[in-house]
Amino acid sequence: MPIITVEHLSKHFKVYRRRTGFWGNLSSTVARQHDIIRAVDDVNFSLERGELVGYIGANGAGKSTTIKMLTGILVPTSGHIDVMGLTPYRHRKENTRRIGVVFGQRTQLWWDLPVIDSFELLKHIYEIPQNLYKQNLEFFSELLQLRPFLSTPVRRLSLGQRMRCDLTAALLHDPEILYLDEPTIGLDVVAKEQVRQFLRQVNAERQVTVILTTHDLNDVEKVCQRLIIIDSGKIIYDGGIDALKERYGKTRMLIIDLAQGYSDIQLEGVDLIRRDGNRIWLAFDRDTISASEVITQLTARYEIQDLTISEPEIEEIVRRIYELGVH
Ligand SMILES: Nc1ncnc2c1ncn2[C@@H]1O[C@H](COP(=O)(O)OP(=O)(O)OP(=O)(O)O)[C@@H](O)[C@H]1O
Ligand SMILES: [Mg+2]
Repeated sequence: MPIITVEHLSKHFKVYRRRTGFWGNLSSTVARQHDIIRAVDDVNFSLERGELVGYIGANGAGKSTTIKMLTGILVPTSGHIDVMGLTPYRHRKENTRRIGVVFGQRTQLWWDLPVIDSFELLKHIYEIPQNLYKQNLEFFSELLQLRPFLSTPVRRLSLGQRMRCDLTAALLHDPEILYLDEPTIGLDVVAKEQVRQFLRQVNAERQVTVILTTHDLNDVEKVCQRLIIIDSGKIIYDGGIDALKERYGKTRMLIIDLAQGYSDIQLEGVDLIRRDGNRIWLAFDRDTISASEVITQLTARYEIQDLTISEPEIEEIVRRIYELGVH
């Protein structure tokens, strides 16, 4: 039984056109013109308990809108959402008790209160039993090293500190699902790595199902087992990261150290994309020519000292998918 099932989910926003001038002033007397934005458009997916899924897409693709519907903040225009047997926007209270939410762009904590006071408030709001609260607070304070700033007002925290507090706040009540909308936005490399490590641990040790949106594909590659890509409101990929590379990453790169500086490099079916002294970078389409054919050609004409073959980076593959779309 999936923990989350989304069927034919759509969210369409009506945006009214602003009118100016004489006719604009009369607009209350005529039907107002509007555009429909299909932020989420017939989306289907399901998640099994314990999965850790990356939900990615370009700006405006529909990620946050999906998360908002899953958490019950937004009511879908059409379609069905089943989260642990609940319909989030209908059973908002019960759903909220069983999920944790982090929006990287803004804190869920009380700005002027010391961090610990926010946690205490959440304890009351979620009616967390004292034992569990103490246990969890201790666990997260230790793991995320919160102790030095537990009595600091949230507004004085650095972004990295605040994110660690937001993660704790989202998990104090032991939710079964954790939704994260850009949890690493604005963080430095070290802080990002801490968040990733933390999410892996929470997922593995506490069996929390995690869905996260991000623009940092390192998050996905280092944390997620599965990737869902949304583009203009539609899912264009749902599967493993290796499978994505397999399916769309057809370009291979060979990096070759030549024994000497040949003046002219000529090879069929291969692009010479860079040259630096005796080192050359060759790109080829693995559907057109195999690596061994390229190497055979090379060794027949040039003396080679060393060579490495590299897979395309996920960044490169996803960029191509965003640009060209996948149909
Ligand atoms: N309340 C709203 N009213 C009208 N349009 C909206 C509203 N919320 C979102 N949209 C539009 O819906 C589309 C999807 O927005 P959404 O915030 O879900 O994108 P996103 O994938 O989260 O993008 P980003 O990566 O920039 O956060 C965008 O075109 C956005 O302008
Ligand atoms: Mg967003």
